[in-house]
Amino acid sequence: MTTILVCGGAGFIGSQMVRHLLDETGGRVAVVDRLTYAGSRDNLVEVMDSPRLAFYPEDITDRPAMTAIFARERPRWVVNFAAETHVDRSIDDASPFIHANVTGVQTLLDASLTHWRTLPEEEREAFRFLQISTDEVYGALGESGEFRESDPLAPNSPYAASKAAGDLLARAWRQTHGLPTLVTRCSNNYGPRQFPEKLIPLMLLNAREGRPLPVYGDGGNVRDWIHVADHCAALLQVLERGQPGEIYNIGGNCEHTNLHLVQSLCAILQELLPAGENPRLREQGLDDYRSLIRFVPDRPGHDRRYAVNSDKLQQALGWRPRVPLAEGLAQTVRWYLENEAWRLAAESRYRRERLGLAM
Ligand SMILES: NC(=O)c1ccc[n+]([C@@H]2O[C@H](COP(=O)([O-])OP(=O)(O)OC[C@H]3O[C@@H](n4cnc5c(N)ncnc54)[C@H](O)[C@@H]3O)[C@@H](O)[C@H]2O)c1
Repeated sequence: MTTILVCGGAGFIGSQMVRHLLDETGGRVAVVDRLTYAGSRDNLVEVMDSPRLAFYPEDITDRPAMTAIFARERPRWVVNFAAETHVDRSIDDASPFIHANVTGVQTLLDASLTHWRTLPEEEREAFRFLQISTDEVYGALGESGEFRESDPLAPNSPYAASKAAGDLLARAWRQTHGLPTLVTRCSNNYGPRQFPEKLIPLMLLNAREGRPLPVYGDGGNVRDWIHVADHCAALLQVLERGQPGEIYNIGGNCEHTNLHLVQSLCAILQELLPAGENPRLREQGLDDYRSLIRFVPDRPGHDRRYAVNSDKLQQALGWRPRVPLAEGLAQTVRWYLENEAWRLAAESRYRRERLGLAM
């Protein structure tokens, strides 16, 4: 049975990928995750007891631990989601980002290379190291245009810069050592189990409790949104049929301003839990979640617009995003309403305070 090593598999996207791999492949999945504030075993609860799952609560920067895991698991594919991921935190302190997102990638590439060199020819051919990256490495766009894989890297936040460094390390191990690495760069993901520091769960949980909905700046920043299940489906296709050495953009073809997105969330919540019947809103005399929206000082260096062109992936591998935003958002809102225990556990690690004002 082949083994897929998923680093960062207890986070938002990584845990979705673990479930996707268990469902769609007959292989074993070995998860490496050091369980930072953003990672949790709760995200894997449905599959934790699977005989095809192994869990290692280790840090990807821990060289001896990685060497031992690679020697034991002998993975056919390595998929690296493990990272510090919140831009606002990278503004307050970039050090954990450089450590996890740069040194961590180097450590995994070294462990992969040592392992890869021990493999027989056929298994070497089949080996893949997939580095999960972000459209934020390209920097910001103006009113028009889309990022393409050949565009220069121009990251603006410490988070994006650390991710760009990881991409370049993956490239260098391919060019220098021949290791079959690939990089994917995806736009903004949404879906169940996203940590409440990120826009969608933060707004949703605040709205339900009648707390202000803090929209950065004028709310006009544009992001492309993709459901996490569409992202993971694309990743499996890249693992199965992508060309080593290549970069693939992954986008949802679904651009919206932050303000429009927050208003859409309010409208969905209104359907599922009308504000007029929510005591937290009623006690403030409000009958519409949109009344909670507040414009707050912008994030320093806030990129105005991102949009990715995923023609390369669509043409080479035939992948398409399938989940319409309205459907995916409604499913996400329902999930957060129904998973109160998950929320409470996440909030023992973060209490929705404002981060990243660079002061
Ligand atoms: N969320 C998005 O919209 C988005 C978009 C594009 C790319 N990405 C990339 O996808 C990946 C996953 O993002 P996410 O949103 O699921 O993030 P997340 O913060 O929910 O999960 C990150 C996971 O990595 C683990 N981790 C962090 N440092 C580690 C270390 N040193 N060793 C082992 N594990 C460690 C955490 O415990 C957590 O489980 C990241 O690399 C991110 O850059 C995310």
